[in-house]
Amino acid sequence: MSADGIVSGSFVPGEDERENVLRPRFLSEFLGQAGIKANLSIFIQAARERGEALDHVFLIGPPGLGKTTLAGIVSRELESDFKVTSAPALEKPKDLAGILTTLAPRSVFFIDEIHRLKPAIEEMLYMAMEDGELDFIIGQGPSARTLRIPLPPFTLVGATTRAGMVGSPLVSRFGISIRLGFYDKADMMAILRRSASILEIKIDEEAASLLADASRGTPRVANRLLRRMRDFAQVAGGGAVNAAVVKDGLGRLEIDGYGLERHDRDVLGTIIEKFGGGPVGAETLAVSTNESVETLEDYVEPYLIQAGFLMRTPRGRVATPLAHTHLGYGTKHEDVGLQF
Ligand SMILES: Nc1ncnc2c1ncn2[C@@H]1O[C@H](COP(=O)(O)OP(=O)(O)OP(=O)(O)O)[C@@H](O)[C@H]1O
Ligand SMILES: [Mg+2]
Repeated sequence: MSADGIVSGSFVPGEDERENVLRPRFLSEFLGQAGIKANLSIFIQAARERGEALDHVFLIGPPGLGKTTLAGIVSRELESDFKVTSAPALEKPKDLAGILTTLAPRSVFFIDEIHRLKPAIEEMLYMAMEDGELDFIIGQGPSARTLRIPLPPFTLVGATTRAGMVGSPLVSRFGISIRLGFYDKADMMAILRRSASILEIKIDEEAASLLADASRGTPRVANRLLRRMRDFAQVAGGGAVNAAVVKDGLGRLEIDGYGLERHDRDVLGTIIEKFGGGPVGAETLAVSTNESVETLEDYVEPYLIQAGFLMRTPRGRVATPLAHTHLGYGTKHEDVGLQF
């Protein structure tokens, strides 16, 4: 599955420790996304000057683009406490209440995968975010009464890879909404240089350029590929990561110059060969490529769409002319590819 593959942006168990070494800690270390950084820095400064909690922040974007990193940065820049959880870990409303009622004032509370909140917990969160209080119902029947507990002011940072699965009542309670997009080549090169310097890896410009092209505009992928190239360079005897090492290394990992791995090419090949270039529905495509719809939509498709290999149409997925030529199907399928 691509989610476990080397170029997927997904979290790989055990990788957190290694990720933390490279994780930017302050806005100044967070490379690229200039517009987002500029706004965020103003909102943070303004909240600090007023001595208030920052407004709630909603982070949206494909895996590995920096959502968790930004949540940590926001807390550090605010010099606030930082509490982290993920939606699936919150099983009962009291799990959430337990965290909210014990937050230090102006804390940053990060909920990852916020599209996976249970309805009862989500409802409790609405009230906490908007009114800064929680309602508890005590007792039963006619003697039941509501206990209202005020909460310390806090900043909820919610992250998701699937904005479409977060309901509008929740979305509308975030005052700051940040949509992270894939990084451009210059930013990817800067990220690779920064990581190489932290890890004390020697990498030249040509190698950094090739790796930037193969990293799907995703910092996590760049960092992972960089470590693998260091392995290849080391075992080959040289130690330095140069263009020859990268070309050879990417070939060994079956990653092409666009950053597509074998599984991506299989998905595109399936659309072209089995479904005449598309359109094909996500469910059908997932089954045909031995993949879950969620993995397909979260990990595989966003980059294929961004890089121009795939289109989402109302009737399903369509392989573009670029996908046809890149996979060696020539251009005769072009008209099929655009039929939607
Ligand atoms: N702007 C950036 N500059 C430098 N490095 C970055 C940047 N964004 C992300 N990274 C690197 O990429 C890694 C992955 O980022 P992060 O864990 O924040 O992604 P994410 O969006 O939370 O992914 P997921 O959806 O899988 O949780 C970080 O450990 C960090 O090293
Ligand atoms: Mg994350």
